Amino acid sequence: MTSYLNVNGRQHAVEADPATPLLYVLRGELGLNGAKYGCGLGQCGACTVMVDGKAVFSCLMPVRALAGRAITTIEGLGDVTTPNPVQQAFQEVQAAQCGYCIAGMIMRAQSLLETNAAPSDEEIRVHMQPNLCRCGTHSRILRAVRSASDKLSLKGSPAGTK
Ligand code: FES
Ligand code: FES
Repeated sequence: MTSYLNVNGRQHAVEADPATPLLYVLRGELGLNGAKYGCGLGQCGACTVMVDGKAVFSCLMPVRALAGRAITTIEGLGDVTTPNPVQQAFQEVQAAQCGYCIAGMIMRAQSLLETNAAPSDEEIRVHMQPNLCRCGTHSRILRAVRSASDKLSLKGSPAGTK
């Protein structure tokens, strides 16, 4: 059965069973490998993407729940040469160690800064809590989100996608 998904502003016809988790479709059918498989249980956040601006665990989100909704993955934010402000902050702070959690972390941070460009440190900490970093770089990750937020609030603009 064909499902239609709007990913990063483009419409895609996908053939996966409607019960298939979005993560598998992104990686297996659409070649979008930024979101990672960590636990498959909604417990680590490595698979985080945005749906209608909210951070979701794509390992738990079946394709059938996504018709007509706007899916954004890390590939929709920017790339190495033109990173968006959140990606840039993660690079500047060197938040990554192995990097496995980072796409999910950036997507969760993006979902916060799109609605609240000037969160408090506590709001950042609480918002980022569902995502785990097994390398233990949480303090650098929080610093990156703070830095992105500070730059965005200086500019007075929400975190952009491309
Ligand atoms: S892989 Fe989705 S939350 Fe861990
Ligand atoms: S940088 Fe390795 S899991 Fe976060």
